[in-house]
Amino acid sequence: MSMISNPLQLNNGKIVQSKKEWFKKRRPELLDFFTTQVYGQMPDKPANMRFVITEDNNSVFNGLATRKQIKVLFEGTETGQQMSILLYTPNDIKSAPIFLGLNFNGNQAVSDDKNIAITTDWVNSKTKGVINNKATCSTRGIASKQWPLEMILKNGYGVATIYAGDIAPDFKEGYKTGVQTLYPELMNRPDNLSTMGAWAWGLSRAMDYLETDKDVDDKKVIVMGTSRMGKAALWAGATDNRFGMVISNESGAGGAKLYHHVYEEDIAQICRVFPHWFSTNFQQFNHKDTTIPFDQHLMMALIAPRPLLVASAKEGYVCDPYGEFLGAVAVSPVYDFLGKKPLPIQLLPKENEPAFGTLGYYMRSGKHDIFPYDWEQFIAFANLNWNKK
Ligand code: GCU
Repeated sequence: MSMISNPLQLNNGKIVQSKKEWFKKRRPELLDFFTTQVYGQMPDKPANMRFVITEDNNSVFNGLATRKQIKVLFEGTETGQQMSILLYTPNDIKSAPIFLGLNFNGNQAVSDDKNIAITTDWVNSKTKGVINNKATCSTRGIASKQWPLEMILKNGYGVATIYAGDIAPDFKEGYKTGVQTLYPELMNRPDNLSTMGAWAWGLSRAMDYLETDKDVDDKKVIVMGTSRMGKAALWAGATDNRFGMVISNESGAGGAKLYHHVYEEDIAQICRVFPHWFSTNFQQFNHKDTTIPFDQHLMMALIAPRPLLVASAKEGYVCDPYGEFLGAVAVSPVYDFLGKKPLPIQLLPKENEPAFGTLGYYMRSGKHDIFPYDWEQFIAFANLNWNKK
């Protein structure tokens, strides 16, 4: 693999000398680069946004947890652009740390409970139970294996999830109906608001709500996601330092993977199949994976010094587990420089052998997915970094 850049080297070639210089000079350079060249501009918090709690039920899972459903009305109106947060918090904790992540098919897919509102937004018709891009009742609970809610709650963590398509539908023309419609000034330009940018922005808007909820410890919100939602989680963590911890589960290209490690999805391919995920400017790097002067470790460097876990699956080939490991290795010097625990390993570990510092990595055995094993690692990583148990 050809040389990848030193995250501690400023654009002028000098090496960062102090923490202050990191935060005042290098970090802003990186943020500017990824905003203008990769994920696009992001709007501010909408002035008229308001929250409507549509359900507040403190006796779910036999009294284990409270479930809330919250409509985030971006324009302040019931008919305008909006997303719905599904939030579970454990009843035995006053204000709980929580995992926040986007889901693929609607909040109703996360659990089969009939009280969960079914998304009315566009859903991919390849999903079982989706007819003409609308989710039906038979999509209830189809992702419940990926969201082991009771197990997470019993470990003292809450869970908040949002359907990504409520924010921006995941197809090329999706910007025509997503939140992008609210920001015409950010569209039609080379650093346009991308779908990935919109999703990350939506996660920040969820954070705006979570800051108001007394059942949530807003200093302990872990933004996480699998695959494309893992890419969005990383970018959300990179752009919004209110997120106390970030977990990338098999985020692959556009996530934790280094493009310099050429394997499976490369820049040209991801830009061809999912052009909307990035701003137009990103296309200039098509076919330049090994010569680009940057790589994804520089995006993850924006998350430091906050804890970051990069999770891979051995047979998650599309996401290039070794490339993800190399991404973690490449960002590690930043953790070290900022006085945090860097990645404790330099060589790819065996499967199911987690290596946790403030920066962590593991490679689960098996396919591209999210298993209870993964949640167990997320919880162990959070417990370790937040000195719990
Ligand atoms: C596709 C895409 C990946 C993405 C994955 C997913 O395979 O090429 O980049 O991570 O979908 O989101 O499951």
